[in-house]
Amino acid sequence: MNAIGSRNRVEGREKVTGEARYAVEHPVPGAAYAWVVQSTVAKGEITAFDTADAEALPGVLAVLTPDNAPELAPVSDGELAVLQSRKVSYRGQIVAAVVAETLETAREAARLVRVTYAARRHDVRLTPDHPGRYTPDEAEDGPWQARQGDPEDAFRAAPVRIDCTFTTPAEHNNPMEPHATLAAWDGDALTVHDSNQGPSTVRSTLAKVFELDPARVRVISPHIGGGFGSKGTPRPNVVLAAMAARAAGRPVKLAFTRRQMYALTGYRSPTVQRVRLGAQEDGRLTTIIHESFEQSSTVREFAEESTTPTRVMYRAPNRRTAYHLTRLDVPSTSWMRAPGDAPGMFALESAMDELAVVLGLDPVELRLRNEPDGHPEDGRPFSSRNLVACLREGAARFGWSDRDPTPGVRRAGRRLVGTGVAAATYPVLRGPAQATARANADGSYTVRIAAIDLGTGARTALGLIAAETLKADPAQVTVEIGDSDLPRAGLAGGSAGTAGWGTAVVRACEALLSKLNGHVPPEGVEAAADTTEEVKGQGDEYARHSFGAHFAEVEVDVDTGEIRVPRMLGVFATGRIVNAKAARSQFLGGMIMGLGMALMEESVLDEAFGDHLTADLAQYHIPANADVRDLDAVWLDEHDPHVNPMGTKGIGEIGIVGAAAAITNAVHHATGVRFRTLPLTPPRVL
Ligand code: MOS
Repeated sequence: MNAIGSRNRVEGREKVTGEARYAVEHPVPGAAYAWVVQSTVAKGEITAFDTADAEALPGVLAVLTPDNAPELAPVSDGELAVLQSRKVSYRGQIVAAVVAETLETAREAARLVRVTYAARRHDVRLTPDHPGRYTPDEAEDGPWQARQGDPEDAFRAAPVRIDCTFTTPAEHNNPMEPHATLAAWDGDALTVHDSNQGPSTVRSTLAKVFELDPARVRVISPHIGGGFGSKGTPRPNVVLAAMAARAAGRPVKLAFTRRQMYALTGYRSPTVQRVRLGAQEDGRLTTIIHESFEQSSTVREFAEESTTPTRVMYRAPNRRTAYHLTRLDVPSTSWMRAPGDAPGMFALESAMDELAVVLGLDPVELRLRNEPDGHPEDGRPFSSRNLVACLREGAARFGWSDRDPTPGVRRAGRRLVGTGVAAATYPVLRGPAQATARANADGSYTVRIAAIDLGTGARTALGLIAAETLKADPAQVTVEIGDSDLPRAGLAGGSAGTAGWGTAVVRACEALLSKLNGHVPPEGVEAAADTTEEVKGQGDEYARHSFGAHFAEVEVDVDTGEIRVPRMLGVFATGRIVNAKAARSQFLGGMIMGLGMALMEESVLDEAFGDHLTADLAQYHIPANADVRDLDAVWLDEHDPHVNPMGTKGIGEIGIVGAAAAITNAVHHATGVRFRTLPLTPPRVL
């Protein structure tokens, strides 16, 4: 399929041979190890620390508590105020840390730290009618809520109505590499090897927290073992590692365990979503009302924004979307792949399927009938919008046309068989960045930018972009990323990494070409670019979004309740694709996460204790190879001149969006039963 190129990851060999070093793997002479002590109550105050036994353990270098930890400058993310107070805001919060000569000693000493709490009653239960619920922005066309027409009256007047409530659970990111930092001080200069989604951001945060000149902070992150959003904002590990290194007077390695990550590195909020659709008999929507109820911790306000995708999907003259937060005594929620869009489109696309069934209309056809001419809220043109083409292409490839719509009638032995469809969308975003491009005397090129490769193949993609601009062979281009000393760049997040970094790389390469005239001197020729003005100057005359369509086939075992997905197809319209091979992996990875969301993933909260019970991969289930059968992802050849110089739209997150709904809609088609609570585990299905 069409793309700038199709290349293996340039660092693939390093990774599979184990030569690639991840944050705490960097060998440092004299490194010590930190281990955290987590609160065992969800709310209250610490009344006493007894650190005597821990301190007496041979090899212990320091025991940090709020009583002796250095004071940090406050930043907006309260999670980074590590050990700044004796107040406990959620179960699992860091209340102390031990630094020791060995990992084993640090862990044992952490166990010996005795903490006494004055516990208070905690509230960790999300309900739509919670008295603490709020909508920060009461304005009726802000990010929190939007309204056009008279949605409630239109709903009452609609000849066909759907009113249903969907529930999605808390879900945790499980990147292979945990959140991990190796921190070392040299006087007032701080160097960290850290696992993150943007070294420039980590640097500026560390500079603020420790009140350092940013030039004295360096963040080195050549390889990252996944993040999915959980490393998009600096987490407590990086602050604590730096604090511990200062206290111990030694470099310190701190890696959270997977179990610790469940409280300390963010997760997707559970949601309760009510969707009301009003339609005419021919399927045309007259009103869409989508409300979501979500949770946030008391430490850090974070909204899952589940109703945002509904704003761009379908035409309806009357519409309202809103999300509401409740601050609970829970660990902090944060980004998880396609925050908002993933749970939001599960609800909307499930409701659309319910409407299709009520109308006796094919669910693909229902979506075609509600395709808007421009942005459904304000009529702005889309820079490009190929939802219809994705649905048509997918239907043709999947063999949708001979589908019998009757639910619950296809059997293969003891399994009921069904198929489902759902749409996908994701916004096209881009941040400012700087980059340099250098022509070397030997004919090679070096591109430098503080981008990051989460494992997605960013280094390889930027090489392809640079090579295309330079009209060079990709093998001639070396891309240096993963270091805050490189030209400043934004996050790998919001599916915006390649778009933002790529723009800067293109501009730097263009500047280089205009400087070159034949002969390259021995010292080379270098050019730099800064896209701050270009990105800021991009107007909003166009609505910029990706679209896609998922098709799934399921088999539901009527005796065990087990659901299998023998076939899944995703068709995406995401602008120009850079690296065909890695892009396909990104789409498939997103779809597999959607499979997990539909059938397995659930962080179960223990209300008595106040945190998540399912804090490891034995209990938090994600799809394994045996769960992934015939899975395919394709893309349309979409040209969009209004997004960025490459014409790319971002591909990291759209794969998960809508995927769960395609599966659960197929389960309805198979069984005739509508499940509105995720995940569809066997006990729920039986
Ligand atoms: Mo993505 S959840 O914006 O890293």
